[in-house]
Amino acid sequence: MSEKRTFLITTPIYYVNDVPHVGHAYTTIAADTLARARRLAGHDVFFLTGTDEHGQNIERIARERGIPEQQHCDEIAATFRRLWERLDVRYDRFIRTTEEVHRRGVLELWARLRKAKTPDGRDAVYQGTYSGWYCPRCEAFKDEEDLGSDHVCPDHELPCEWTEEQNFFFRLSAYEEWLRDLIATDRLFIRPESRKNEILGVIRQGLKDFSVSRARVKWGIPVPEEPDHVLYVWIDALSNYITALGFADHGESYRQYWEGADERLHLIGKDIIRFHCLYWPAVLHAAGLPVPTREFAQGFITKEGRKLSKTTGNVIDPVALAERLGPDAARYFLLREAPYGADWDFTDAAFVGRYNADLANDLGNLVSRALTMATKYCDAKVPPRPDPPSGPDRGLEQQLQDDAPVAWPYESGLRNRVLGRYEEIDFAGALAEVWAWISQLNQRIVQVEPWRLAREPGRRAELEAFLYRLLEAVRLVAALVSPVMPGSANRILDMLGLSARDPGPDDLDWGRLEPGASLGSVTPLFPRVEKKKETTVSDTPPPSPKEETDTRVDIADFARLELRAAKITAAEKIEGSKKLIKMQVDLGSETRQVVAGIAQTHGPEDLVGKTVVLVANLKPARLMGVESNGMVLAGSVGGNAVLCVFEDEVAPGTKVK
Ligand code: MSP
Repeated sequence: MSEKRTFLITTPIYYVNDVPHVGHAYTTIAADTLARARRLAGHDVFFLTGTDEHGQNIERIARERGIPEQQHCDEIAATFRRLWERLDVRYDRFIRTTEEVHRRGVLELWARLRKAKTPDGRDAVYQGTYSGWYCPRCEAFKDEEDLGSDHVCPDHELPCEWTEEQNFFFRLSAYEEWLRDLIATDRLFIRPESRKNEILGVIRQGLKDFSVSRARVKWGIPVPEEPDHVLYVWIDALSNYITALGFADHGESYRQYWEGADERLHLIGKDIIRFHCLYWPAVLHAAGLPVPTREFAQGFITKEGRKLSKTTGNVIDPVALAERLGPDAARYFLLREAPYGADWDFTDAAFVGRYNADLANDLGNLVSRALTMATKYCDAKVPPRPDPPSGPDRGLEQQLQDDAPVAWPYESGLRNRVLGRYEEIDFAGALAEVWAWISQLNQRIVQVEPWRLAREPGRRAELEAFLYRLLEAVRLVAALVSPVMPGSANRILDMLGLSARDPGPDDLDWGRLEPGASLGSVTPLFPRVEKKKETTVSDTPPPSPKEETDTRVDIADFARLELRAAKITAAEKIEGSKKLIKMQVDLGSETRQVVAGIAQTHGPEDLVGKTVVLVANLKPARLMGVESNGMVLAGSVGGNAVLCVFEDEVAPGTKVK
């Protein structure tokens, strides 16, 4: 066993602009898996995630919703937490940048920066005028050469704003040499390698100072010297990695998991590498603080070849993903389908295909065959431990740990190869190693034919030795996949008659099942599903196999529906249809066209002026060739539509919940 090390693992903190999407789930599941894998290897881990709650976007969205910023942040942060619970993500700390302890930490960092000197002796922070193209969605000034002809932000496809401000600046240009050296020597270990080269390329082109305060934003942490300004949202956000640990008070977690950590690892997306690999280390270094040691940029998920975007309706809903086949299937698929650093395309067919092939067939069958045979032939008890291992079945152990039961040369043995892959943040590789073993184990069952041995009383010892080894192998498979599928690992332990727990390094030793101990009852782990062509995770999910009879939705599902008060400003019947009426409705911030099947009960002239309830985030649909952007709610009484209206006057756009 290698010696115990201390690790900090973080995800980006996610903007609370909107409910979580699959990209957020992807990074958070990866971080959770890595944290669990390192605990399995015996290390001391702190796993941090949270939400990024300040800035112009949040200010705008809360205003549009007609609620205070803090209330908006509270609601969305709660949605993130619920999703993490649903996905079995177990973090040590969920930081929110609206917490007081964060504000104090940021101000402490700011105070240090105000006093800091660059390597060539100048002030690290100075005052100046900034002018440039600012994308309010990125919360960043954009380089002119990165923008389209009409100054459209390539990431958000929205026009940038020309902005001039008196700001504080951070003298990033003075840290070029230091950053190049830090990154080129891998003291800051950036992976995939292509991202490291990308960052070195950015440094080669010359680094520009960046502004660290904002004049036009109110929702943020005020700059003490200039209370009309707030600190730039990226300085505010990046600081979370230390403020969450108690930087403001030099707390114990800060000392242990930042200052004293063997590794400070940020998992990020490829979209935010400049902030994390250039700004953040330079700021920390200027403030005299330890810098991150490793950063890994995950790839981006697309769906059917297209960028995920709410505007085009091309989304993968992480809640639906978890509900569809259970959280472990979602975790497994996201981490198995592609190398973690690569871009890849999500398809529903691949999701269901992998579920059936890898989980229902390979793993599910192995577990159910091993347990069913032990129940039947060994009276639901662990058979005697074969000692010493001999004969061809000894291969099962050799696969896992090489010859020697105590020494673990790093290069040999499945156990070390799997832990090594996790350590390299190669989740697909770790799972592929385990699956190769699962498939050998399944083949071995077919070769040995235990059901034949069971019919020959003289071969009882052979049968028991094989089944002991098989049950041990199942136990070890559970431990090795537990970082990715913690719930399923616990269900396997349960079937083996062991109590549910997070496996640690001792659980990776061969031969821990106690002969004579009772096994639990065998239940199907991953029932097969048929692929339903018309259903995808971006549409309504079918009931999960475990909860076929429970049709209730939880509050997070309900919160995904955007119901708003809509005032009808124009209405006309659709030619050729008896039922359909086309309407223009006012939603406060926009006018929409919607089509409703209410013509048999309502004339267009009755409708204008009425305020109705609209499902505002429904995907657009065409009815008789006319586009409808939302659905008007109505009761159906004897086949007649009775509109849902309000008992009092409400402003168009008001949220209904
Ligand atoms: N708040 C900032 C981060 C501050 S960290 C100090 C932010 N938030 S975000 O909500 O936009 O989340 C960005 C992260 O989500 C990406 O870096 C990436 O990890 C993840 N993803 C967003 N879309 C994604 C895909 N389509 N595919 C994979 N991951 C993506 O930026």
